[in-house]
This record gives sequence, structure tokens and C-alpha cells, in this order.
Amino acid sequence: MTHFPFVRSRSIFRNLLVLAITASPLTVTSQTQQDGRSAYHGEDDAVARGRIAFFQRDLRKLGGNGRSCADCHMPTQEFQLSPAAAKARFDLLQWIRRFFPKADDPLFRPVDADDFRTNGEQAKDFSNLIENGLIRVTMPLPPNVKLIDPATGQPSGETSVDLWRAVMPVRNVAITGPDNVLPIWPPAARVPVGGLDPNGPNRQGGYQHDARFATLQEQARGALFAHAQVKTEPPVQMLDDLTAFQQTLFSSHGVRNLADVILSGSNIFPDPDGELNELEQHGKQVFIRACAQCHGGPLHPSTSTPDATLVRPIVRYHNIQSACPRPVTVDGFTPCPDRLARNARTYQITLANGATQTFTTDDPGRLLLTGQIADLGVLDSTNLYGIRKTAPYFHNNSAATLEEVVDHYVALFKRAARLNPPPNLPPIISSNGVDLDRGFINGDEREALLAYLRKL
Ligand code: HEC
Ligand code: HEC
Repeated sequence: MTHFPFVRSRSIFRNLLVLAITASPLTVTSQTQQDGRSAYHGEDDAVARGRIAFFQRDLRKLGGNGRSCADCHMPTQEFQLSPAAAKARFDLLQWIRRFFPKADDPLFRPVDADDFRTNGEQAKDFSNLIENGLIRVTMPLPPNVKLIDPATGQPSGETSVDLWRAVMPVRNVAITGPDNVLPIWPPAARVPVGGLDPNGPNRQGGYQHDARFATLQEQARGALFAHAQVKTEPPVQMLDDLTAFQQTLFSSHGVRNLADVILSGSNIFPDPDGELNELEQHGKQVFIRACAQCHGGPLHPSTSTPDATLVRPIVRYHNIQSACPRPVTVDGFTPCPDRLARNARTYQITLANGATQTFTTDDPGRLLLTGQIADLGVLDSTNLYGIRKTAPYFHNNSAATLEEVVDHYVALFKRAARLNPPPNLPPIISSNGVDLDRGFINGDEREALLAYLRKL
């Protein structure tokens, strides 16, 4: 009499937990239907299988740590992860564990704990996840780059480095990879260092913050090994299915239509923006003047492909000073809070001429792919559609709001103008090197730009 109901309610409780902290595949079905692609029309088997794979925590034959893609790319969070969501899941788990000590949420695996390198499988300091929404990304060091051991101040024997990066939304990934558009990359010929391709992979765009993967299959394979800790090679069909499913996820009808056109190879693009009021129209003009050089405008409205045919074409990958620590200058960057600044490491790089240089950063960006000092902090321009729902921003979640993003760019433009005076104003702020005719945001333009960003 007393025992049975208890057991029952206990399993109901467990199920409630699972429901609360995961999003069921059903949510996605209705979401994709909302986006215009129905579960019954135009959806092939690969998409259906890919949806299941995306939510699959038990990967059986592959091994794995119980995580699904959806544990980090939460459907209720635009297929990304906010620090608030990570914190809510963590708090819920702690509360439930008071009653059921074995309750679990696979988001919290030792591999993404801050103390994993020291405490291994016992690690349980999840500060980076719950304060910052950041995930460990381990990258090999190029042969000419060493880490400085904070204890001794000398180069350490480490051959890889742990970076902490934001979970990217997997909406719109149909158009966030390579795009066959040829903006200049790299800006000038380079001397290879350490036998690496000095230009790095994917000169025409790629996946991840640093564009290191060329295909969604390659990306999914990497995620299965790194995040789900699988032990065996995933079947090719699973990677294809995950790709097919992810390519059906868009932030709006307009972007879906745009993606269809981009993927058809046409270069006459529909305008993906919905109806804009006067303020948003004004904001769009500001965006085209200040942001399109890197994020694309009417010439290629993907928001991650630079406007290639501008008079002084822009390069593809950039250091926008989003890493921590920030240059503390007169330009007005907001300093990084300690909870982010502590993720920085000091590196020593050997240059092509044999000289060495040190730098401290939370993310060397494409430098880790090329061994080139010119690539320090250089990242891919992120897709901006649906951006109103995916705060915080940048690879390290260092901008809490769109207001902070805009303020960051105001400082970036100021810095570019200060360091390269006319006639050498760089293309991000000038079409001819002399006139400051791009890349500035006047006082009354700020609200307009913000209104437009919220419509994207
Ligand atoms: C532990 C959290 C976590 C899990 C689990 C996870 N991801 Fe990710 N995902 C990330 C992070 C962090 C990034 C950014 C990594 C980087 O830039 O190095 C990312 C980036 C991506 C991107 C790149 C988007 C773009 O526009 O470039 C795709 C696609 C993606 N993940 C798909 C997947 C798939 C598919 C799975 C399951 C097989 C998966 N992820 C599992 C955290 C996760
Ligand atoms: C010089 C090239 C460049 C210009 C100009 C530029 N961006 Fe960016 N943008 C980038 C790069 C590179 C990133 C990725 C940085 C990171 O992840 O740390 C980025 C990231 C962003 C993000 C973060 C997206 C996310 O999901 O986290 C937002 C928002 C953004 N840009 C808005 C703008 C706006 C608004 C403007 C114009 C005022 C602008 N950008 C101008 C290159 C540029």
C-alpha cells in the first residue's frame, strides 16, 4: 500500500525531470511545421531519422556519455544554450537530487567542468557552464605555438589547449558554411610556418566560430567525439541524417526562402526581412553602411558572407576584439568581467623569422589553425538571423545584450580609425582609405540599428 505508489510517483517524477530538462522531438515537429516545412510534406526519411539522432542520448553501439545534440542545442533555446538555461537546469538537478541522489542531466559531464584537467571524472565545478554558458573545446596547438605555464612563467609541454566557446544556434546552418563567394582571403601572401597551410582551412567559409569544418557531417562527427565522447566511428548515414535534419531548421520563412535561392546557385536574392517600419528601415540603412562589409547586405544577404563586390573588398575572417582580455584603450571597450577573463591563457608563438612573441587571450581563433600571428583572434562572421532570441553574444558570450554588441562595435570602429589614420583607413570603415564613410554609428542611429537587429 505504501510502497507501490511511492515507486510509481518516483518514476513519474523522473519522467517529469526528463521532460523538464530536455525538449522532446515533438516540440521540434511543431516548430518545423511553424517554419513552413511540414512533417508530412517534403520531409524525407533522412530528415526524420536525423531528428531522432539529434535527440538520441543513448547512442548504444557508439558508446558515449549520454548526451544528445539537443542537450546543448536546446530546441526551446533556438537550438543553442543560454547561461540562464544552463543555470536553471543545474539548479533543478541539485534540487531533485535532494530526493533522488541518482538524478541526472547529461549536460553536466565532467569533460565540461572547469576542474576536468585536475579532477578528471570526479570533476564537478561547472562555473563556465552555469555562469557563462560556455563549453570546453580542445584544440591542438600548432608546432610553433606553446602555452606558458602560469606557475613557472616558462613554456609548458602541453600540446593542446582548452578554449571555452558559446554553443552556436543550429538554425540557418544551411547557409552558415562554405558559400563559394570569393572575398579576399588571406589579405596578403603568407610564409608557411611549421608545415601548416598558412591560409588555414575553408577560405570560403566554414562551420564553428573559427570555420574549421567544411561540412555539417564533419562537424557532427567532431561533436560526437568531443561532446558525446563516443568511442567508435559514427556511421556515415547518421552524419548525413543529422545534416539533413539540421538543414530544415530556420529562424524564419524569409531566411528559408533565401537559403533555397542561395543553394540553387542563383545570385538574385530575395529580401529575407519582413515588413519594416520607418525606424527599422533607417536601421537597415545603418546596418548596410556599418555592418555589411563583414555580415553581408543587399549583395549577399546571408549575414555571414561579406559583401564581396564593394569597391575595396573586405576580407572574410576578422579579429573584432571580442576575446578577453580586451584592449584597454581610449576607444571605450567594456573590460571583460573576471568570470570570463579567467579563461585567458598566455601563449608564445615563434614567427617565420625565428623571433618569438607572447600574447594572452581566451581564444586565439584561426591562429590555432595556421600558426600565423596575423590570425590572432580572427573568427568567422556569425550569422545574425534570429539574433534577438540568442543572447548573450560573441564566441565567449561576452556581450550580454544587443546594446552591448553595438557599443562594442562603436569602440572597434574608433580603434580602427585611431590606429590607421587617412589615407590608410581600413575597408571596414572607409571605401577609399581617406573618407570615414562606413563603420560608424551616430547617436540617433543606435536605436534604429537596434530596432533592425531585433527584426532580423
Ligand atoms: C556539450 C555541448 C554540445 C553538444 C552535445 C553538441 N554541440 Fe554543437 N556546438 C557546441 C559548441 C560549443 C559549438 C561551437 C564550437 C566551436 O566553435 O569550436 C557548437 C557548434 C555547432 C555547429 C556549428 C554551427 C555553425 O553555424 O557553424 C553545429 C552545426 C553543431 N554544433 C551541431 C551539433 C550536432 C549535430 C551535435 C550532436 C551530434 C552537437 N552539435 C552536439 C556545443 C555542443
Ligand atoms: C570587421 C568585420 C565585422 C564588422 C564590420 C561587423 N561584424 Fe559582427 N561579427 C564579426 C565577427 C568576426 C564576429 C564573430 C565574433 C565572435 O564570435 O567573437 C561577429 C559577431 C557578431 C555578433 C554576435 C553573433 C552571435 O551569435 O554571437 C553580432 C550580434 C554582430 N556581429 C553584429 C554586428 C553589427 C550590428 C555590426 C555593425 C554595427 C557588425 N556586427 C559589424 C565581424 C564583423
